Amino acid sequence: MLNEISTLRSQIENELLTISSSESLEQFRLAHIVKKGTLTGLIERLRDVPKEDKPVIGKELNLLRVFAENEFARLKEQFESGKNQTQKIDVTLDGRRGKKGSIHPIMQTLDEILSVFRKMGFSVAESADLEDDYHNFEALNFAPDHPARDMQDTFFIKDERSDLLLRTHTSSVQIRLMQSQQPPIRSVMPGRVYRNEAVSARSLAEFHQVEGLCIDKNVTFAELKGTIITFAKEMYGSSSEFRFRPSYFPFTEPSAEVDISCYLCGGKGCRICKYSGWLEICGCGMVHPNVFKNCKIDTEIYSGYAFGFGIERVTMLRTGIDDIRLLYENDVRILEQF
Ligand code: DAH
Repeated sequence: MLNEISTLRSQIENELLTISSSESLEQFRLAHIVKKGTLTGLIERLRDVPKEDKPVIGKELNLLRVFAENEFARLKEQFESGKNQTQKIDVTLDGRRGKKGSIHPIMQTLDEILSVFRKMGFSVAESADLEDDYHNFEALNFAPDHPARDMQDTFFIKDERSDLLLRTHTSSVQIRLMQSQQPPIRSVMPGRVYRNEAVSARSLAEFHQVEGLCIDKNVTFAELKGTIITFAKEMYGSSSEFRFRPSYFPFTEPSAEVDISCYLCGGKGCRICKYSGWLEICGCGMVHPNVFKNCKIDTEIYSGYAFGFGIERVTMLRTGIDDIRLLYENDVRILEQF
């Protein structure tokens, strides 16, 4: 009988090595563990064993039974928790790479914009997102009934100071700068701005702008053109072409909007440029005398130019992203491309 027990032990041990699924484990259970299985069969035959042999054989049999039941329980738990350690580990497989963070495309664009302007001698100035009506509108020569002050465009703050708002453009920083320092001024002012607009593929209620301001003696419109073209060629490539279209802003006179030849079709006309061949990149102009007056800068001595553009727009033109919302969804599949 001891021989039979040892044969069964070898059989059970071999079978255990080949069990790789809960199906084969179940077959093992039906063969050995259940009432009609091999182990119970041997235990029942213990009755016929001579008394003096019973302790030794009984002990062996019991050890085998406990071993088989424990192994069965262990494998069952492994399969249930989905971890089958009897499967071989392939050490040649690639490890899992941890995902690395990277600088957001909007901030990459901003870093590059600022570095181009720094090379041209501009310093960088910033101010708070929370503004008052005076700096955001009045000092910039917006008439009291100008539509930009309308509830539809501006987020007003409910406060005991009833004229607080979220700035609608970075032009407000121009005023803060002119109030706090005397010309010459040559600065760019990046920041977040807010407009009460419906979110779409082209516009968001919260976005970024860079403002520019240059005030000195004898500053001319030609200098403004030179600055913008030099900047845009650095950003978009030296083969780009430009046009300045007359425009209107309350805080500049004369004012212009600048278009760049479409980077995608080279000016032939396509979906991106709405078949015009041109893409608008910024607003600009010579600082309005009323703005200088509001900031106590002598217009007999000084003149200056200003410009402003959206950072999301520049990012979209450079990356080819054609839906502005993609820049704010933080989907790593977009972000890891830049
Ligand atoms: N503030 C304008 C806007 O938000 C952009 C702008 C236009 C800024 C002309 C300027 C400028 O400084 O001269 O649309």
